[in-house]
Amino acid sequence: MNKLEGAVVVLTGASSGIGRVTARMFARRQAKLVLAARSPEALQEVARRCIELGGETIAVPTDVRDESQVLALRDAAIARFGRIDIWVNDAASYLLGNLEEVPSELVRGLMETNVLGTFHGAKAAVTQFRKQGHGTLISIGSIAGTAPYAKASAYCASKHAVHAMNAALRQELVGTNIEACIVAPASIDTPLFDHAANYTGVEMRVMPPIYSPGRVARAILRCAERPRRLVFVGGAPLLTTLLHLLLPRVYERLQPQLVAERHVGPRTAPKIPGNIPETLPPYDDEAGWRRGRASVLEPPPPEEATLVARARRRRRVALRLARRQSEAAIGFRSRPL
Ligand SMILES: NC(=O)c1ccc[n+]([C@@H]2O[C@H](COP(=O)([O-])OP(=O)(O)OC[C@H]3O[C@@H](n4cnc5c(N)ncnc54)[C@H](OP(=O)(O)O)[C@@H]3O)[C@@H](O)[C@H]2O)c1
Repeated sequence: MNKLEGAVVVLTGASSGIGRVTARMFARRQAKLVLAARSPEALQEVARRCIELGGETIAVPTDVRDESQVLALRDAAIARFGRIDIWVNDAASYLLGNLEEVPSELVRGLMETNVLGTFHGAKAAVTQFRKQGHGTLISIGSIAGTAPYAKASAYCASKHAVHAMNAALRQELVGTNIEACIVAPASIDTPLFDHAANYTGVEMRVMPPIYSPGRVARAILRCAERPRRLVFVGGAPLLTTLLHLLLPRVYERLQPQLVAERHVGPRTAPKIPGNIPETLPPYDDEAGWRRGRASVLEPPPPEEATLVARARRRRRVALRLARRQSEAAIGFRSRPL
């Protein structure tokens, strides 16, 4: 049985990446879709595809930072379909750079989209769900919402806020027929990293292991059918979160090395605000981050190879130090160092 047939779904961040794939998956299941993002052109393109796939769809250009626009989004859904069964808060931006280097106005912009935007969506959805007596809210969290990492203080803070907001909201919803869920992905192959603000001074890479957006979309649909409190996508978020909680000193040593080696550099790159201030065309339909980056798979030039080798050596030393410290802390030595 197709539980999603005829379900009314509001989806923010629908013009790109995870949102785009999720919209199409809902459409294939004959859901009725209300798609939102800032770029009207990209949104219309996704809506057209969804209609072709059999999902009745409207596109409502919306900036989630503005509460009146989010309320207008909810009203457009009610006006067209009469109710809302599922609301997915997917819209977000990404910002990378050391805390003292990222401009404060961009941090404010990121918080407005990632935190306030999610809050606006949750408030609009839950108000409607209470009137109807049912509904499922799904907010996209992140591994950054449970296991923070270097050079992403603002993004990690924003995703921690999303996770905390949902945890608090769930307590307010006890005894109702309303669900509030978090789907928390790790690194996903989407244009997020092309849209990101980058103040590291070097290029951004996607930290492996990298999962497909389809995997997140499937988790979102499963949550819509059978709501869960928190769903991690892939094994990496759960393992990283456990390491952060159980061995915080090891995690603190290891994670900055991984970021330095795998999330940034070595090529220099200009400092850019990405899509935080406004939407960034074009949104290539099929391209994830990796598809547009065949060159990163080629071996680096010799001077870059040296930098990579140095970073690996530093990581090995940091790992050894971290292991010594954690073994000293618990009074146990796993094997001679
Ligand atoms: N990709 C990853 O590795 C990863 C990992 C963990 C979590 N996530 C989370 O997954 C979600 C989707 O990310 P993605 O990877 O699909 O990124 P993406 O490809 O950059 O898509 C982001 C979407 O959000 C929209 N958006 C951004 N700012 C907005 C605003 N102010 N108002 C309305 N819409 C806005 C964008 O469209 P407009 O610019 O046109 O508005 C776009 O549709 C986000 O919550 C992200 O934090 C991603």
